Amino acid sequence: MAKVTLSVNGRTVSGDCDDRTLLVQFIREKLGLTGTHVGCDTTQCGACVVHMDGKSIKSCSILAVQASGSEITTIEGLSANGELHPVQAAFKEHHGLQCGFCTPGMVMTAVDMISRHGGALDEATVRHELEGNICRCTGYHNIVKAVLAANAEMHAGRQAAE
Ligand code: FES
Ligand code: FES
Repeated sequence: MAKVTLSVNGRTVSGDCDDRTLLVQFIREKLGLTGTHVGCDTTQCGACVVHMDGKSIKSCSILAVQASGSEITTIEGLSANGELHPVQAAFKEHHGLQCGFCTPGMVMTAVDMISRHGGALDEATVRHELEGNICRCTGYHNIVKAVLAANAEMHAGRQAAE
């Protein structure tokens, strides 16, 4: 057994778990945050992407004990004041989802991508960086459109604020 203490969506949480408990299991089963999905459990599909210390990671590929002491953001932590995050809003607006199973991972990957590339993000880069996120429904076109639209909006917002 190991004691794990994390900041999750701005709240400090701790709990005991088996040494072999994956971070995604801890998030879903101990914390009840089921927006983070498990599609493969073998680091291929990206449904389990969360942010650890600001960077997107596949939470099925890391043990909960390895994440102890870090700051985790899950899909539940993205919206603020009852408003969708701009990336969530863009997925809605541009029909970037159908069944929605891959969507939390896609959105978390996109938020990290946009924060790293800012206004320089282009379609080829979006497609390249989404290669670790698998969607069985959409054909990806609208997902890519949504990420580019969110990037344009978030970048424009930043420029306006400067
Ligand atoms: S469940 Fe983690 S990559 Fe598929
Ligand atoms: S929307 Fe169904 S798997 Fe992507």
